[in-house]
Amino acid sequence: MSGFHKRRSSKMQEIYHGDCLEIMKGLKDNSVDMIYLDPPFFTNKKHSLSSKDRKSHYSFNDIWDSHKSYAEFILARLIEGKRILKDTGSIFIHCDKCANHILRFVGEEVFGEENFLSEIIWFYKRWSNSSNNLTPNHQNILFFSKTKEYTFNKIYTEYSETTNIDQILQKRSRDIHGKAIYARDVDGSIISSDEKKGVPLNDVWEIPFLNPKAKERTGYPTQKPILLLDRIIEISTNEGDIVLDPFCGSGTTLVAAKLKDRKFVGIDISKDAVDLTESRLETLVKTESALLNKGRLSYINADEKSLAILSGLDILPVHRNAGIDAILKRNYLSKPVPIRVQREYETLSEAVGKLSIAAKRKSAEIAFLVAINTVQDLFDFKIDDCIIKVINSPALEINATIEQSLVNKLLNTDILTRTG
Ligand SMILES: C[S@@+](CC[C@H](N)C(=O)[O-])C[C@H]1O[C@@H](n2cnc3c(N)ncnc32)[C@H](O)[C@@H]1O
Repeated sequence: MSGFHKRRSSKMQEIYHGDCLEIMKGLKDNSVDMIYLDPPFFTNKKHSLSSKDRKSHYSFNDIWDSHKSYAEFILARLIEGKRILKDTGSIFIHCDKCANHILRFVGEEVFGEENFLSEIIWFYKRWSNSSNNLTPNHQNILFFSKTKEYTFNKIYTEYSETTNIDQILQKRSRDIHGKAIYARDVDGSIISSDEKKGVPLNDVWEIPFLNPKAKERTGYPTQKPILLLDRIIEISTNEGDIVLDPFCGSGTTLVAAKLKDRKFVGIDISKDAVDLTESRLETLVKTESALLNKGRLSYINADEKSLAILSGLDILPVHRNAGIDAILKRNYLSKPVPIRVQREYETLSEAVGKLSIAAKRKSAEIAFLVAINTVQDLFDFKIDDCIIKVINSPALEINATIEQSLVNKLLNTDILTRTG
């Protein structure tokens, strides 16, 4: 092998600087358990970015003459990849819409259509003012095995919020027409299901994109989250297995492999990338995702009753905020307009207090509290917060009007007749 440098080698933790094709040619047949490759995506751009402290500047080239030259580049590396993989091994090819079709075709040429296992959709929420097109919120990972004897560790996820409790608790079988039914014993009673593991992982993975403040973000362009590699490593390898990343960039795969007690080989043509990978392996930093840990539903906590009271207003419901239920879609003096609906258990001053703190945090110039009851504060309560405007809910207004009308009637002044 020539034209590359082995930068690190200990207990099968290897990093090489050079063209991955040359380096892969030097790796033994049937020697690695899994390959993850995240090559340039055929974007025909040069990707550049700076580290958080702006001291380092990273870039790599993704400009190609033609589809053909890109396909040939990938083909040569996939052929080597197949040779290096053990028979139980698998390969994950990361791409997006730019080259998905090319990589699927080349992948099937090398590994065989029959060994194409899945197209994983990595889905994330990202807001961008994209041009006249849909915002791209996913990337694709093509999953091939070398043979039918590949390692695959089943992992289970939580039941969805719409899963019927009976589906979880009761054993199911099929009737003579093949239709899924609940299994019954000889007495006709429902049979409980065995251990409840959850739902087998599907091929759409929602994993947050690394936000600019994420701890693990290095500033390397197109850096992938460790959580994504965690999952790939988990389903396809076991402890002690060897993972190869021929386009390792900032070293995400290697960090994930190390954290999961896998051995690894990383390669990159950029010296900056290899330096960065080495430093990430010295100090392992991983960003946890509250979204994944707690689940998306835990974020959807706006109070439904309160939102119902606000229906008809042009609002955006606010989740995960103790003081605000909704924000008006229109601004006031270029600032957001928060709204809170008083809770049944709250006095007016408690509700105003919570809204006031939250509204000031959002720099609001005006905020509305919708009063729903007349629970009195222990002491007379005055709103001295001039940005909070208290208005009565329709229920409160109607009840108050009725009460007042009754009083007026008693006093021979029928307000309903007058206004009616
Ligand atoms: C999409 S980036 C990889 C990002 C990486 N997965 C991460 O999380 O940081 C592609 C990488 O391929 C590298 N590269 C491009 N051509 C290469 C080649 N022939 N051999 C090795 N690396 C190459 C680039 O320098 C770049 O770091």
